[in-house]
Amino acid sequence: DVIDVRSLGSHGVFTYDPGFMATGSCESAITYIDGDAGVLLHRGYPIAQLAEHSDYLETCYLLLYGELPSSEQKANFIETVKNHTMVSESMQKFLEGFRHDAHPMAIMVGLVSALSAFYQDHMDINDPEHREIAAFRLISKMPTLAAMCFKYSKGQPTMYPRNELSYAENFLYMMFATPCEDYKVNPVFANAMDKIFVLHADHEQNASTSTVRLAGSSGANPFACISAGITTLWGPAHGGANEAVLTMLEEIGDVSRIDEFIEKAKDKNDPFRLMGFGHRVYKNFDPRAKVMRETCDQVLAELGQANDPLLKIAKRLEQIALEDPYFVERKLYPNVDFYSGIIMKAIGIPTSMFTVIFAMSRTIGWISHWNEMISGPYKIGRPRQLYVGKTERDYPTEK
Ligand code: ACO
Repeated sequence: DVIDVRSLGSHGVFTYDPGFMATGSCESAITYIDGDAGVLLHRGYPIAQLAEHSDYLETCYLLLYGELPSSEQKANFIETVKNHTMVSESMQKFLEGFRHDAHPMAIMVGLVSALSAFYQDHMDINDPEHREIAAFRLISKMPTLAAMCFKYSKGQPTMYPRNELSYAENFLYMMFATPCEDYKVNPVFANAMDKIFVLHADHEQNASTSTVRLAGSSGANPFACISAGITTLWGPAHGGANEAVLTMLEEIGDVSRIDEFIEKAKDKNDPFRLMGFGHRVYKNFDPRAKVMRETCDQVLAELGQANDPLLKIAKRLEQIALEDPYFVERKLYPNVDFYSGIIMKAIGIPTSMFTVIFAMSRTIGWISHWNEMISGPYKIGRPRQLYVGKTERDYPTEK
């Protein structure tokens, strides 16, 4: 049931809904989720079908324009993305201002926000062509910036994008190639990376997307809005969970210690939560987690690590949680982050980059929502509050 409160606002009536559990902030035609049934559709297409038949750039096109591209439209889209993969050389100097050991998400917040200062042309947000160019710049430059962060943390030179490679291959190349070694991208890894990108591309009005819309509703620069989204994604209750899952699996260390951690997660006096379990919207199996689990098996088989100890712990945890009444009653199923960390670790991506990769993938969702909002009628987002402070009192003039 939807209660439209627009007509009530001017009469001093408002809803109090901490955490926005029951508040729809906008109309959107991009993504549909039925959390009870475990359904996720992008522009009507089930996520499992997109993961199987589509690829990330095609999914980007779908999210941005609303329809799957023809083969000519797809080729043109890919070509345009490739035209924008380079970043200004001055961005490198900006990067060098950060400490080498800074968290890459901290650097990404700075670098992406700085794009607003480096790319000041085509910045009329009311012009659809300008918005499109901002979208292209973001889709194209995010992998370049993410790989620059990684290389910087390793003390290695930045690798320039290679536009003859696919989006996922190019990202892996910029991450792992060095000027002195020939680097061949493993196709199984590139395929797994592409799946990770597709599965994280959008998820309607989550905390980071809502932040991008809220920032954008003031008319702010799109790069700055995306930077606000990256900031929100960073937290362990949101995108930071994939990093937290791996840390947790490593801390558990052995299947024999799982029960101990399950009991900790159930103890209400202990703040510990089983990372990678539960979701604000899904009260069923996260459909993205199913694809991720299969991809995880493929990558570990390719590496001959099908008996990886972390995967063993993950699978046993999943099994216990699906049977334990605590998790069953609360409908706490594995979410998308549960397996993505194991895949990325196997590929050689350090834990600190996991959330950066989530941010890269989600950029298309953020910019599609921003574009959708600006394309239609919208108001500046301005939630109300329930004031619980002091009532009016006089300033003490005599002390
Ligand atoms: N481990 C143990 N108990 C949990 C967990 C968990 N992972 N998640 C929720 N619960 C319990 C809560 O303690 C609460 O129990 P209670 O009713 O007895 O008090 C109940 O389940 C409901 O939890 P809420 O916190 O009210 O649910 P909410 O929708 O606010 O939280 C969230 C969702 C933040 C994702 C939560 O499940 C969580 O912290 N999970 C772990 C972090 C994680 O994996 N985040 C990734 C989300 S997916 C993404 O961002 C792509």
